[in-house]
Amino acid sequence: MMDVGRHPNINLYTFSEVEEVSGYIGNFNVKVRKKARFVDETDCNACGECEKVCPVIVADEFQQGFSSRKAIYMPFPQAVPSVYILNNEDCLGHNPIACGKCAEVCEKDCIDFDMKDEIIEVNVGAVIVATGMDVYDPTEMDEYGYTKHENVITSMEFERLISAGGPTEGHFFRPTDREVPKKIAFIQCVGSRSHSATGNPYCSNICCMNTIKDSLLINDHYPDTEISVFYIDIRAFGKGFENLYVRSKKAGVRYIRGLPGEIFEDPKTKNLTLIVEDTVTNTVKDYNFDMVVLSVGVIPRRDSDVVQKLLTLSRTEDGFFMESHPKLKPVDAPTGGVFFAGCVEYPKDVKDSVTQASAAVARAEVLLNSDTISIEAITSECFTELCTSCGICTNVCPFNAIVGADAKLGTPAEVIEALCKGCGTCAAECNFNALSMKHFEDAQITTMIDAMLDENPMEKVTVFACNWCSYAGADLAGLSRLQYPTSQRIIRTMCSGRVDSDFVLHAFEKGAPIVLVSGCHFVDCHYIDANRWTQKRVEKLWDKLERLGIRPERLQLEWISAAEGQRWAKTMTEIDEMRKNVTEEEVKHTIKVLKEDREKAEAKRAKKQNKRITSKTDNPGAEISVPA
Ligand code: FES
Repeated sequence: MMDVGRHPNINLYTFSEVEEVSGYIGNFNVKVRKKARFVDETDCNACGECEKVCPVIVADEFQQGFSSRKAIYMPFPQAVPSVYILNNEDCLGHNPIACGKCAEVCEKDCIDFDMKDEIIEVNVGAVIVATGMDVYDPTEMDEYGYTKHENVITSMEFERLISAGGPTEGHFFRPTDREVPKKIAFIQCVGSRSHSATGNPYCSNICCMNTIKDSLLINDHYPDTEISVFYIDIRAFGKGFENLYVRSKKAGVRYIRGLPGEIFEDPKTKNLTLIVEDTVTNTVKDYNFDMVVLSVGVIPRRDSDVVQKLLTLSRTEDGFFMESHPKLKPVDAPTGGVFFAGCVEYPKDVKDSVTQASAAVARAEVLLNSDTISIEAITSECFTELCTSCGICTNVCPFNAIVGADAKLGTPAEVIEALCKGCGTCAAECNFNALSMKHFEDAQITTMIDAMLDENPMEKVTVFACNWCSYAGADLAGLSRLQYPTSQRIIRTMCSGRVDSDFVLHAFEKGAPIVLVSGCHFVDCHYIDANRWTQKRVEKLWDKLERLGIRPERLQLEWISAAEGQRWAKTMTEIDEMRKNVTEEEVKHTIKVLKEDREKAEAKRAKKQNKRITSKTDNPGAEISVPA
């Protein structure tokens, strides 16, 4: 951190928050709010006189509440820059000044009660998101008694208690009697690998090794302390990790496979009893300890949605940010020019975080050192003469790549190609055919539908599959030599978001007995949340089909991932059975009602367009546009 602070090419904005990010790859404008710290950064020499006279005492967050701080304080010993900060909320008041003692004693006159937040704007080519993680709050796991028993602490609190820079200067003791515990237990996976109502289903990755490290630390400092670790399984997978695990076992750390069901406290001695089912011996036993450490898991930062909105990012089901591709682009965000480093993407230890940070910097440098950048060839384009400025495309674009559509000003939509990733949602949602996807144009797709249903349509299942998941799932089914009916005919689109309602209706009008729309599972869509629009569109189509007397089941929607070849084969077998149950009369009726409905809609649309042209003619000087 010191190196970063001193580096001539790095501007470090501390106590600051990014408020707005606009622009695109190679050209981001970032608005940063540098909050008022009420202490002049350039003059403060951290003498600490202000802190001594400050009368306010509050719990120190950095020391996990084990010690206190003043309203004016140094955030933590190695803080960069090494200057004091005045917490506005804790201060007795400086407008009007209620105390002002800190200002009185500051020889360098650094205290400025009138200091205001500053807005800084920076133009950057790339953004690296390294906002870190939060830790699981064990208060909801009542069985471990974190809120009831003082001698039950978390691994974060343990870190402060055993740290030489902590509130006890490294003299470890249990909170109730300030005695060194003779028997200490660690409970693993608190808040991790849980499929119950409390906790998270994923492994937090770092807790096993953290406990092993802590157990060795206690063993070094207090060799008489007995240490037990309760676990599901120990995950010591990294370089040198197994050695450390073996070392701790040799040092006498006892590993017991099983997690406690409950912890009781002796009201007199404050000792703790753990009731545990040992899953190796299949016996339930009681264990007594002086102190219990809950090895709490990692969770995504609680304010992740703010960063998500700022940079139009997507998140996994667990809430961590999703990379562009897990194998081929593991540090890239789906938004061009944005990269990830550290636990913002998934729980990882220091080594992996540094590795990922180095990779992210390298990726950003490649971008910054190029004269030109490559963008997607498959992007959306707007035919401005057809655009009614309704703004639907702007709302549905997951990448905020469409701007300018304003019904009041009459300005048409404009696609920023550098931002567009080519999901095609805008083209599918536009009611006026004003947006089109290069290489996946309406005419190309309808021609494919025509060709596939030209002969024996009753024997075919029309399938729209997204490029990244479902199409790859079909591929996997083939590569795995899985057997399933051959009735499917696949039309590949980059995302299921491209599947226009008109394509589905066109297929039915062409005699398709069954249509399947298939894409990635919700959090897996490669275009952030474009498939949510697919879902909405299909739901609307189901309503419409029902209204027209067509069985909605004839339109199927399935989320199938690239790894689900088996599921693809099973789905195709089931859908083929559905196809066999569709009668020729049903299909004929469908063709008839859809044709009538389409003609009605076309007439209505033409009337609307004519009206628009007339109103423009009435306005002298206005450009008259005639739709193609
Ligand atoms: Fe597969 Fe969007 S990329 S549904």
